[in-house]
Amino acid sequence: MKKPSVFITRQINAQAIQELSQTCSVDVWMDSNPPPHSVLVEKANQVEGLLTLLTDPVDARVISSPGLRIISQMAVGTDNIDLLAATQRGLPVGHTPGVLTETCADFTMALLLTVARRVVEASNEVHQGIWRPWGPEVLTGGELPGATLGLVGFGRIGQAVARRAAGFDMHIIYTDRKRNLNIETSTGAKFVSMEELLPQSDYVSLHVYYSPENHHMMDYSRFEMMKPGAYLINTSRGPVVNPAALVWALENKIIAGAALDVFEPEPIPTNHPLLSMPNVVITPHIASAGRSTRVQMAKIAVDNLLAGLSGERLPFCANPEVYHR
Ligand code: DGY
Repeated sequence: MKKPSVFITRQINAQAIQELSQTCSVDVWMDSNPPPHSVLVEKANQVEGLLTLLTDPVDARVISSPGLRIISQMAVGTDNIDLLAATQRGLPVGHTPGVLTETCADFTMALLLTVARRVVEASNEVHQGIWRPWGPEVLTGGELPGATLGLVGFGRIGQAVARRAAGFDMHIIYTDRKRNLNIETSTGAKFVSMEELLPQSDYVSLHVYYSPENHHMMDYSRFEMMKPGAYLINTSRGPVVNPAALVWALENKIIAGAALDVFEPEPIPTNHPLLSMPNVVITPHIASAGRSTRVQMAKIAVDNLLAGLSGERLPFCANPEVYHR
């Protein structure tokens, strides 16, 4: 029997590729840059299964490929995929929730501490040969115990950050579409509106999915509502923050600093004003980049792909409504 054909848009964990190769004919894009969109469209036309990353725009052209039966994304977020078009076309889309929660929460805390305690700024000075003598005011920064952390979005990752922040003796407030009484009890987190959260928080950390409704959710008016001297941490999606408004808030000292793992656009333009601000920490979308996390993400992406190719329900489906059409 002919093996189903699959295109993987980047090299993923070798064991995961090997598992797939046992039952599928596998084509892997070997470059470290994503395939150009024309290549993605062409490949999608030739295969039954696609394994994608969040850098691949999976639009209606890709989705309309006649032989395609399953799209499996190696990420929890699927905002690069036209989910509605996939559902309308009857295509299940897999994703990898859960396994990256703890890694992303760890990284959020790492960014928060880094920007507050000026780790990058201090390290850069030392690398440049500047070791300032110990001084009472040298490189002083924000602290965590007793400070208020405002979590915008209280899904798996937001809750995991709350658990960690409770260990740092922070006061935790959060806003979301619904309250979560269980985690409120275990962390002391308090449910508030966005309007209450922004002026009260010393640190605002974003943990929302991207959707057109929260595009540029952090805009000029929202920055203006933030507590003077507060910090913004974003490990969710770049377009949730208006980059011009962020520059404005930093230049006008409305906030003290920002730590960003995501940006609009990615990569950030090399001449962007944020890159010359010492109180801004920027990393290239690596919150989930724990070694074993990435292995597990690849495994789940392969499991989803194999389930889809066998006509079974995906273990982790981003558009479950596809099964109720
Ligand atoms: C995701 O999975 O959506 C993260 O942004 C990358 O791991």
